[in-house]
Amino acid sequence: MEEHLTVGRVAELADISVRTLHHYDEIGLVRPSARTAVGYRAYAPADVERLREVLAFRRLGFGLREIADLVDDPDTDAVARLHRLRGLLVDQRDRAAAMVVAIDRELEARAMGIRTTPEEQLKVFGAQLYEQIGSAYPATRRTEPRIAARVLAALGDARTVLNVGAGTGSYEPADREVTAVEPSAVMRAQRPAGAAPCIDARAEELPFEDQSFDAAMAFSTVHHWQDPLAGLRELRRVAKRVVVFTYDASSPGWLERFWLTRDYLPEFAGLLEGRPSLAEMSRAIGGRAEPVPVPWDCADGFFEAYWRRPEAYLAEPVRRAVSVWTRLGAAVEQRVVGELRADLESGRWAERNGELAGLDAAELGLRLIVG
Ligand SMILES: C[S@@+](CC[C@H](N)C(=O)[O-])C[C@H]1O[C@@H](n2cnc3c(N)ncnc32)[C@H](O)[C@@H]1O
Repeated sequence: MEEHLTVGRVAELADISVRTLHHYDEIGLVRPSARTAVGYRAYAPADVERLREVLAFRRLGFGLREIADLVDDPDTDAVARLHRLRGLLVDQRDRAAAMVVAIDRELEARAMGIRTTPEEQLKVFGAQLYEQIGSAYPATRRTEPRIAARVLAALGDARTVLNVGAGTGSYEPADREVTAVEPSAVMRAQRPAGAAPCIDARAEELPFEDQSFDAAMAFSTVHHWQDPLAGLRELRRVAKRVVVFTYDASSPGWLERFWLTRDYLPEFAGLLEGRPSLAEMSRAIGGRAEPVPVPWDCADGFFEAYWRRPEAYLAEPVRRAVSVWTRLGAAVEQRVVGELRADLESGRWAERNGELAGLDAAELGLRLIVG
């Protein structure tokens, strides 16, 4: 019994009432696995571990029914759930930090007699995707040197480079004078010390004069823009050369190219609705598209990066750093993970995709448009 804690002690340590603990017991959420000699509830270490998870999800605002589903999910273990909790808590912290910054800005503005616009006041509450998922980004997203070499070659001898949708600064050439543009405060906050100066702006409205830069680049970001063609035209306006890394989702059979979309994620098609075709994007910058094969050991964990390492998609941090999963929602994500895990275990994935083992790089529709 030594390692068990009484209900009173647990309540004291967790700063909750004994009544709450009794309620969790009654509804089967956290059941103490023992009783003391005189019949009081006694919590074993595993019970305490479960309670810790429940309380953390509670603090994040989840309802008790949702929490029960999360902690009893047969597809995740304690470590996966801790990663998930950590990600959610870090997101919450980052969002609170972004709100503090916005409120400080507004206080400063008010002190100077300036009123913020309704758009500015609401912006910080808006569900901007990268404010939600940005803190998970650096875990697996970094420069892939073979793709970076292609970008560098496309930039040619440009001395001044504008990087739009710059994120944490992957692919920014170190030997040029770079200016970054990034609308997400969470992403800007994660740029390493010494990274290029970064401006809070959007591709669709670049705060620069015509032809201010030798080149403008946009890497893995166009699909996030509200108006991709307007953004690309802005890049064209402010720079003499434009280099865009994106995907060609318009060609027929694109979803079939990659087993993840073909066999597990038909919902991906919904994300493509209304997106401009590769031809339209090329026209917007007056450029030409070149295929960019994805190396089998791609260092940048974008959506297609693990085409020959399917187990990677089972890892929560890999999925958290790719917006597709957040966009499609937790239910789709859990289904795909369950199906993929089962197919990997049964050998069905290997049966269907055996030929991939012999490839060093795959053509998955990624394109560099240079204009
Ligand atoms: C997948 S990340 C890519 C970041 C970086 N280019 C990289 O390769 O690591 C997409 C970025 O686009 C940014 N973004 C979203 N909407 C944007 C817009 N309208 N204009 C510019 N950037 C935008 C997001 O905040 C996010 O940082």
